[in-house]
Amino acid sequence: MITFGTLVQMSDQWWRNAVIYQVYIRSFADANGDGTGDINGIRSKLPYLAELGVNGLWVNPWYASPLNDGGYDVADYRDIEPSYGTLDDAKAMIAEAHELGLKVLVDLVPNHTSNEHEWFQQAIAAPIGDPSRDRYHIRPGRGIDGSEPPTDWIAVFGGSAWEQLDDGEWYLHLFDTSQPDLNWTNTEVQEEFQDIFRFWCELGADGFRVDVAHGLAKDMSFPDAGEAAELLSNAKTPNHPYWDRDDVHEYIRQWRAVLDEYGDRMMVAEAWVAPDRAPMYIRPDEYHQTFAFDFLDSNWDRDEMRARVAKVIETTASVDSVPTWTLSNHDVVRHATRYGLPKGTPWRKWLLDGPHDQLDAELGLRRARAAVLLMLALPGGVYLYQGEELGLPEVYDLPLDILDDPVWRLSGNTSKGRDGCRVPIPWAASGPSLGFGANDGWLPQPEFFSEFSMEAQQGDPRSILELYRSALSFRTDQLTSDPEITWDPAASPEVLSFERPGGLQCWVNFGPGPVELPEGATVVLASDPDFSGQMATDTAVWFWA
Ligand code: BGC
Repeated sequence: MITFGTLVQMSDQWWRNAVIYQVYIRSFADANGDGTGDINGIRSKLPYLAELGVNGLWVNPWYASPLNDGGYDVADYRDIEPSYGTLDDAKAMIAEAHELGLKVLVDLVPNHTSNEHEWFQQAIAAPIGDPSRDRYHIRPGRGIDGSEPPTDWIAVFGGSAWEQLDDGEWYLHLFDTSQPDLNWTNTEVQEEFQDIFRFWCELGADGFRVDVAHGLAKDMSFPDAGEAAELLSNAKTPNHPYWDRDDVHEYIRQWRAVLDEYGDRMMVAEAWVAPDRAPMYIRPDEYHQTFAFDFLDSNWDRDEMRARVAKVIETTASVDSVPTWTLSNHDVVRHATRYGLPKGTPWRKWLLDGPHDQLDAELGLRRARAAVLLMLALPGGVYLYQGEELGLPEVYDLPLDILDDPVWRLSGNTSKGRDGCRVPIPWAASGPSLGFGANDGWLPQPEFFSEFSMEAQQGDPRSILELYRSALSFRTDQLTSDPEITWDPAASPEVLSFERPGGLQCWVNFGPGPVELPEGATVVLASDPDFSGQMATDTAVWFWA
């Protein structure tokens, strides 16, 4: 029997099964024709999102920013970047999303500010030893004259993580030089962020995606780390000098207490940590969700995927939570491209080094269609990255001279960075910037984007867009009640298969040959538009047994 208490709990925990659509604002829709996406552009596409069947949207940082790192360099956490709009636009967008039944998540960046933030400006104008400098990690250097950085720490984007100030001291920046790290042992920093959470809750935000959630806490004895780091991938060592440290959980609890004052607000962690450490972030008094990056990182391989998915389900259940799945975001090579590369290809390096003729784009798209049926049938929440519903591939061959990601520069041009997954969305099959805006977008779209456009796919039952729509609609109706999963009804080593409460089965064929469904299977949805009874390689099917 459903009691009143259960109902209240379910609506408070709307995020447990929600599908959230990630909007990379700069590249989503440009309402004023300046080449950059904006809040009014998002407003114009809210009906599209509601019709797609998602439950909400997460908007990448939209705060006032010099945009050195796509807005993850925040100059003012309580104002909107003028090229994106105004606070009034943001309020209107949130209200309109709510009218359509869509939740809104904002992106909070607590590990670092922009160097244009007034705190940093105060700190560097102040004399050595001034309390305003304690909000950041500003320290004397090593060597007789202090000309060596305080530690050997390497910035995620490349180069030393320390930059010297004119007065001789050094400041820490784990990312771009324009992103000084905050000192989270400083109570003023802690209080400021509690207040920023309140500010956006008051404005109507339903939740927060928290950037670099495994960062923040640093080893305050500042030891050498003795290692080099690849983008967002060296955080799997527990209690590393600057990643995944136990003291970070103290700050998370402070925020959770603030959110709990508002009842049904939530936060999701971007924590690139070891799978065994991830559940610590979603203990009952911490985050509500944490992205299962281990799933995103998996090769297209039946055993590897099954093991990773099972592990995430098991570890999240151990803290009475549910998994949070995602296949792509604004930091990784789009999965329609990753899945078209030979197994084990280091995809970040492949962008620059190739060989590019290794890519089988058709294969990648076929697998992307299968992958979304796999993901949407799993228990828990899901995040989609804008454009994946159109099957967009990575644009790996953007001209080098227009690359904008600081990774390109800071890696000494050895890593291309993340621009290729941030190319403006093609809404129309023709016209200026394919419907993104009235003029060219900030990054050029390749010609083939026209066939991937929303307009070209809309209403075509064979399109990936219509596959997403059908899958999302069915999921909402049938797959969101209970987190249980029963593995391997197919009993085949080449098929990843599971059954959900209610009896729906999801099978994905990773093997080389076709697979028969059980006798009497009633097919609900097939990833293969040519499906006619047998599952081809690299396809998925939902059916009632
Ligand atoms: C964001 C990146 C950003 C970095 C620094 C991340 O993990 O997702 O886009 O460059 O944090 O803020």
